[in-house]
Amino acid sequence: MFIGIDLGTSSIKSVLIGEDGRLIATASEPLQVSRPAPGHSEQDPESWYQATLAALDTLARQAPREMAAVCGIGLSGQMHGATLLDKSGAVLRPCILWNDVRSAEECRELEGKLPDLGRITGNPAMPGFTAPKLMWVKKHEPATFARVAKILLPKAYLRYRLSGALFEDMSDAAGTLWLDVGKRAWSNAALAATDLSRDHMPDLVEGNAPAGTLHADLAKRWGMAKPPVIAGSAGDNAAGAVALGAIHAGDAFVSLGTSGVLWATTAGFAPNPKAAVHAFCHCVPDTWHQMGVILSAASCLSWLSSVVGVGAPELLQELGDTLERPSSVLFLPYLSGERTPHNDADIRGAFVGLAHDAWRGTLTEAVMEGVAFAMRDCLEALRAAGTNLKSIDAIGGGARSRLWLAIMANVLDLPVNRLADSEVSGAMGAALLGRMAATGESPSAVCKPPRRVETLEPRAALRDSYAASYARYRKLYPAIKEATR
Ligand code: XUL
Repeated sequence: MFIGIDLGTSSIKSVLIGEDGRLIATASEPLQVSRPAPGHSEQDPESWYQATLAALDTLARQAPREMAAVCGIGLSGQMHGATLLDKSGAVLRPCILWNDVRSAEECRELEGKLPDLGRITGNPAMPGFTAPKLMWVKKHEPATFARVAKILLPKAYLRYRLSGALFEDMSDAAGTLWLDVGKRAWSNAALAATDLSRDHMPDLVEGNAPAGTLHADLAKRWGMAKPPVIAGSAGDNAAGAVALGAIHAGDAFVSLGTSGVLWATTAGFAPNPKAAVHAFCHCVPDTWHQMGVILSAASCLSWLSSVVGVGAPELLQELGDTLERPSSVLFLPYLSGERTPHNDADIRGAFVGLAHDAWRGTLTEAVMEGVAFAMRDCLEALRAAGTNLKSIDAIGGGARSRLWLAIMANVLDLPVNRLADSEVSGAMGAALLGRMAATGESPSAVCKPPRRVETLEPRAALRDSYAASYARYRKLYPAIKEATR
């Protein structure tokens, strides 16, 4: 038996699975985000631990017999967050999260200090990443910075509380801007550029390797016969990839969650920092991946739904599910700035081309298309870094809409697979990493492709009209940037 724990932004989700991959029990606990100032986003690391205890208490109540046989635990974590510990292991301040944008100025400073940053770390400096957050702390909270002894990403802190072990896995470490991503080793140059050293970093480990053992008192609390091993584990996108079997070069998926991700597994390190492509290590050995990330995807539809006062499912329903032509209205989905391809924390969204005949459905359609165009931008950025995709799986809340996937297939000009279970969770991937760490099985033996129920193919006529709309969309970012500077 294996447990997967997904430390998300809005909740802790945990799953208990059997040797055959069967889901035995699940439990989830909510988490709160605090926004003490505009653009700031923080969480209390203690709340992750308390929510994890509560979730695993529930698993133990639901399935005591299976819980007794757990031998491996894997973690999946929201990436990039800076959890700062002093030399006694105490937390120094609330964790600064992945969606906190306070450090835009520090990003510019970092690029100036280390012009080689993109080549070494595979990524441009973006406020979401960890290193510029520490530069902000040094500048604004120097007394705290002086006391920093270790910096952990959220799931590494959770592992520390569960086991006392200090480790970071390669996939999450790649999102710090302190990793030499090609070499899978901490970069002394990147650390020095932020006035830090190797001593501030935990040891590195592959996601499927053992990295600690659950504290004996916790194993006893949950009725486990023997304290299970904890896997190196993964950042949430890499854990999702494991659950989708996306561990071979060319495997790809699009995730339409709060944010949106276009993921491609790659055989080697393939950066394109100029287009804000994320070039990271995968959580399994000798494997890398690229990722285009847009900050608002399904959340654009939730936003529209709250503005017009109609639920998102109803908005989708009133459009039907046949795709006839692109909307005459264009939407830029930059509700909280954008990462790929613009790396622009200040840009904001827009509707363009409104006429008297525009109704609620016109806006819904424009929002769905705008997100698809932003994904096409990601696809082009990955292409420029040498990646050519043949088809993609679709996951996340937005993937429940067949219409959205049909739009996506035509805009990306790629077959898009609809899955039997599009709610693929990081927790499931984490449980599989826990299994590999406990049994020593290979990633290929454990990570299997998902069940695909339908493939939405691009249609020649539609593809051409969407290409024309995409060309108009491409002109809008520079124009809106100029008009709102
Ligand atoms: C990836 C990223 C997000 C967070 C969300 O770069 O910032 O996917 O990991 O949890």
